[in-house]
Amino acid sequence: MNGNGWLRLQERLWGLAPWDARRISDEWFRAHFDYAADLVNQWVGGALDIRAARLLNFGCGDGITDLSLVLRHGATAIHGVDIRREYTKLPRIAREQLGMRRLPAALTFETIVPGARLAHRHAGVDGIMSWSTFEHVRRDQLLPILQDLYACLRPDGVFFLQIEPLFHSPYGSHLRRYDEVPWHHLLVPEEVLWNTIEAHQGTINAEEVDFGFADFGVDGYKRFVFKEYQQLNRLTADELVGLVRQAGFVVERQERRSVDMAPPPELLERYSDEVLRNNEIFLLLRKSD
Ligand SMILES: C[S@@+](CC[C@H](N)C(=O)[O-])C[C@H]1O[C@@H](n2cnc3c(N)ncnc32)[C@H](O)[C@@H]1O
Repeated sequence: MNGNGWLRLQERLWGLAPWDARRISDEWFRAHFDYAADLVNQWVGGALDIRAARLLNFGCGDGITDLSLVLRHGATAIHGVDIRREYTKLPRIAREQLGMRRLPAALTFETIVPGARLAHRHAGVDGIMSWSTFEHVRRDQLLPILQDLYACLRPDGVFFLQIEPLFHSPYGSHLRRYDEVPWHHLLVPEEVLWNTIEAHQGTINAEEVDFGFADFGVDGYKRFVFKEYQQLNRLTADELVGLVRQAGFVVERQERRSVDMAPPPELLERYSDEVLRNNEIFLLLRKSD
């Protein structure tokens, strides 16, 4: 019996390891354990039975959302894939934040190379989710990845895709933890943006400090998030919808959220008001055949 099979047997006999949400002290953890997981549950759980579904999380990060979907919403099979290995921290994070001694057997994780095909190994999944990931995928890999995820799904399966913040929105650079000037990334040259970040002193919003921060240190983290900014694919909501349709998905439900702020006039000469204010998109996609 492999490690996961043994864990499943243990759980069948004694149940999940005990956990206690009152121990949560980290705001990043809380934002994913509560807010993100609840939204995924609303969107995916409204379209399929999360307790019986085989789920794939594309760009799972540290896996906190997946853990919550199991503990708080009864998911029984979630496979997380990511090009980084942040999920290897989840056993320690679950111990620190929930007092949980072992992760549920329902969770499995895998590191992939960017653009790796998944469909031959993960065919027939009932649902896919992706939270704040597709803005990081290289442009030339977007369509092949979406086509591959389409191939992973069983007929009639669903894909819940969320992006926030979208690139052209006030804080679409993902650099707000260091720079509060709205649309700054669209207004100044890259060097000015980097100088702002480099000069930043003091604490940053706890909800935006992920568990990778400790690995990098203060200056290393600045360099890391700036590089992430440079690699953003700058996708708009319309472009994303066009791509998912091209990959074969039917858009079953869509919600776009916009900020109530007036974009600077010089930006309105280059982009539409709608693009500049639209900071989030939620899509529920279905494989129709
Ligand atoms: C902002 S993080 C979000 C992580 C997680 N979904 C969350 O909510 O915390 C974006 C994630 O996308 C992953 N990612 C970027 N490009 C990817 C790709 N081509 N394939 C899979 N994951 C990717 C990154 O490694 C990172 O973990």
